Amino acid sequence: MPASRLDPKAIPRHVAIIMDGNGRWAEERGMSRIEGHRQGLESVRAVVRAAHELGVQTLTLYAFSLENWNRPKREVDELMSLLEFYIDAELPEVQRNGIRVTSIGRLERLPISTRAKLEEAEAATRDNREMQLVFAVSYGGRAEIVDAARKLLRDAEVGKVDPEQLDEKSFAAYLYQPELSDPDLLIRTSGERRVSNFLLWQIAYTEIFVSDVRWPDFRKTHLVDAIVDYQARERRFGLTSEQVRS
Ligand code: IPE
Ligand code: IPE
Ligand code: MG
Repeated sequence: MPASRLDPKAIPRHVAIIMDGNGRWAEERGMSRIEGHRQGLESVRAVVRAAHELGVQTLTLYAFSLENWNRPKREVDELMSLLEFYIDAELPEVQRNGIRVTSIGRLERLPISTRAKLEEAEAATRDNREMQLVFAVSYGGRAEIVDAARKLLRDAEVGKVDPEQLDEKSFAAYLYQPELSDPDLLIRTSGERRVSNFLLWQIAYTEIFVSDVRWPDFRKTHLVDAIVDYQARERRFGLTSEQVRS
């Protein structure tokens, strides 16, 4: 029983995942990249369920980056319809499990139908408190910081903020979803050791775990592996080990 390796009292509150490797998974099997994305949806299903079972409070999934808009149109279209399909297929279970769905990113760039589905999921699950599932779609970390700066400058112009009073906390209030806690654990699948413009502001002190497993093969047992690894670490936040332990 893999979950028994875990300390149930030290489950990361917020887990963020860069779901990578769908294309390679498919290519390795002589399939089209799109087949990889379809299979990847099974992993989303499994991991949302697993995170809920393990007691994770927030799960943020990087589903589509701003840079991903530059992929072939056919692939982009398929990814958008898969997201819509996921919401249609999973909303009943998500609802039963008390999961609240939200999204972050430049959502105005999404096709109307995709945006409508995300809004539908958000409205339907607004009062759920068991877990929060955040989709980062059309998302870029630098863009989020720029968008925050733009809103802040507008408020400064009309005298709503005083530049001299600005600090990290008041700046963060302009991010897409300021009430989200910073991720405790960031998982990237499929071996690449980079953050690819994900949650740049929020991962300042996040623990990073890179799994070699391709996203379409990623299941609860791999999530448990990541959390077990996380639980063996000492988060020092700039302090000495001695300070942290006392
Ligand atoms: C992740 O898999 C899905 C998205 C980025 C939308 P990829 O499509 O990036 O798969 P690889 O990295 O090419 O294997
Ligand atoms: C990051 O994966 C984006 C998502 C998982 C949605 P990419 O495959 O786009 O990242 P790079 O290009 O390898 O950095
Ligand atoms: Mg990739």
